Amino acid sequence: MMAGITRREWVKRGAMAGVGMVTAAAMPCLGQAAGTPGSEKTGVGAGSLKEHAEAKRLPVGAAVNMALLRGDETYRRVLAEQYNMVVGENCMKWAALRPTAETFKFDEADELVSFAEQHGMQVRGHNLCWHEQLPAWFAGAVTKENAAKVLTDHIATVAGRYKGRIHSWDVVNEAVWMKDGRPDGMRSSSPWYELLGPAYLEVAFRAARAADPGALLTYNEYGIEYDEPEEQGKRAAVMALLKRLRETKGPGGRPLVDAVGVQSHLKTANIAKLGEGIREFAGKARKMGLQVFVTELDVDDDSLPDEEALQQDRDVATVYGHYLAQMLQERSVTAVLTWGLADGQSWLQGEKSRVKHPQRMQRPLPFLVDENGTYRAKPAYFAMRDAVDGAKRR
Ligand code: XIL
Repeated sequence: MMAGITRREWVKRGAMAGVGMVTAAAMPCLGQAAGTPGSEKTGVGAGSLKEHAEAKRLPVGAAVNMALLRGDETYRRVLAEQYNMVVGENCMKWAALRPTAETFKFDEADELVSFAEQHGMQVRGHNLCWHEQLPAWFAGAVTKENAAKVLTDHIATVAGRYKGRIHSWDVVNEAVWMKDGRPDGMRSSSPWYELLGPAYLEVAFRAARAADPGALLTYNEYGIEYDEPEEQGKRAAVMALLKRLRETKGPGGRPLVDAVGVQSHLKTANIAKLGEGIREFAGKARKMGLQVFVTELDVDDDSLPDEEALQQDRDVATVYGHYLAQMLQERSVTAVLTWGLADGQSWLQGEKSRVKHPQRMQRPLPFLVDENGTYRAKPAYFAMRDAVDGAKRR
């Protein structure tokens, strides 16, 4: 933090530096009476992100925080104006859906799906099987003997409840972790692996296909975007896993997997190592018959030194533009979602991602809520919209 400036002032100046990048006319104050041009009636501006995306038949979405969806009318309005896809940031995870081993709690997930349907938006389901955000009762109640049944029943109930209403399910999340040291890269420290071995993926994908044959079954992963040794190794392990899942036939004689989610938690550092390798990966996925979704895009700017902090928004937008321009040249990339809507709401505000600059606000997302509660589109928003305009489609 620079001496003599309060955090509030710092954030404000950061905001000014960011918004200064675009002209006032191109800077919609979304969610206010002024709105975007032509938005009086429908609330959808002529220049909305989703209109640009629809012209390319490319869904664009954001991860939704249920407390905000319930409590912030402007949040709801901006989501519906700008996006045509949503994913629950937490509300479809085990910890949210499973208060006890015997019960399910669907109120939040139901609300998300009905919000989406009311506004003609598609829904991604996230997620059915992950080593994190498992409920507290899990460890005591799930054993090697019952794990396959517990997993299958969970998926049958959850994916079954929303059958026909989900664009794609993240069936398995983050199953590869090179540091566990296995040659195939599987995360052997996951409770699911410990209980069922590598076969747990197949159990999950089979159950998901049976429960909702209309949803695109997705394998979702992070840490595969950069062209540096660790991520290149993980990317190769993910590709091998996808190949195995693709070659295995499940219910209806269909391959187990339809799509790969590239989480895309990016950073301002190392932009030169971003783009080529992951685009090639998307090309290989296409040749295997898979779609590719950018599922959790955001940009961590903790690497920026304080002197550059006032340019945070510009540097973040540069990463958005550079990455999406690459990815959207590849026709297999068929959906783009950011992990949240506005900076202050991002999971990156947590201590874990503010290591070098604990006092500085991260600015990872397309919007910023200003002091009046107005959602302002940031340079990242325009970088994303421009990249969508440039997308190469079929
Ligand atoms: C994160 C949420 O954003 C946080 O609110 C929560 O506390 C932890 O999980 N990869 C994923 C997401 O697949 O589910 C994670 O979401 C972010 C990393």
